[in-house]
Amino acid sequence: MTLRLSGVGYRYAGATRPSLLDIDLALPNGSVVGLVGASEAGKTTLCLVASGLAPRVVGGQVRGTISLDDEDVDAWPMHRLSQRIGIGFQNPATQLSQVASTVFEEVAFGPMNLGVDRSDVVDGTWAALGSLGIEDLAGRDPARLSGGQQQLVAMAGLLAMHPEHLVLDEPTAQLDPAGTRLVGAAISQLAADGVSILVTEQKTDLLAAIASSVVVLAEGRIALSGPTDEVLADPRLADLGVAEPAAVRLRRAATSAGVDTARLEAALRD
Ligand SMILES: Nc1ncnc2c1ncn2[C@@H]1O[C@H](COP(=O)(O)OP(=O)(O)OP(=O)(O)O)[C@@H](O)[C@H]1O
Ligand SMILES: [Mg+2]
Repeated sequence: MTLRLSGVGYRYAGATRPSLLDIDLALPNGSVVGLVGASEAGKTTLCLVASGLAPRVVGGQVRGTISLDDEDVDAWPMHRLSQRIGIGFQNPATQLSQVASTVFEEVAFGPMNLGVDRSDVVDGTWAALGSLGIEDLAGRDPARLSGGQQQLVAMAGLLAMHPEHLVLDEPTAQLDPAGTRLVGAAISQLAADGVSILVTEQKTDLLAAIASSVVVLAEGRIALSGPTDEVLADPRLADLGVAEPAAVRLRRAATSAGVDTARLEAALRD
């Protein structure tokens, strides 16, 4: 099950130039693709296009092909796409329904609206909470959780819909290090369960830990892409407005200080 973008471009309604150009991207099952780039590079726009919200909800004009398992999804309505592709944004509070008084109701909200059988909703909700390790939050008021907990609840709400693909735009942007680790672990677990995940993330240390590949956007185009280790160690990264992971910075500093890099590598591995 692969979500694929081939030669995709996108222009917002009324914009004079495209915000995305020539995007080729594949998200096979179980992959975590990190998406980075300077501010305004087009990361959020790519999330909107990959999830189908643009143009269906956002408007604008898409070029190229977006396919699921080699089937062109151009004519699919949003409700059909959204059963296959979940999308999450950086502010978890805005993703919560605001009508549920407990986390359990919040996570059950999507499947209930789809008219899923009641006992299946209950089972599915517990399963979604369990896969993120937050069953203990089931009875809590979503509005009174920490940002990290809210982001996990929002992700559980996505999971309860059993998406094959998830598109997450800066899911840890508002989170402290502990919340960031929780979301990172959840993403890795989902990928291990076969979900494919496109995740925009400024924290390259997190991507170094969870991403199978990384795509760097610059002015709406793919500037670099490939295996995580290679892309995150690319000397062009800083010029592209992306912070290097701590390990890469350390290696560079050590090399320029004349430290024996083989010994440093050994130390970093320990
Ligand atoms: N609704 C819109 N209408 C017209 N142009 C837009 C709209 N939203 C974004 N853009 C433009 O599209 C380009 C890409 O913006 P986008 O928000 O995707 O960047 P980003 O990489 O997510 O940036 P950030 O790091 O700030 O989140 C920018 O030039 C931006 O000005
Ligand atoms: Mg953005």
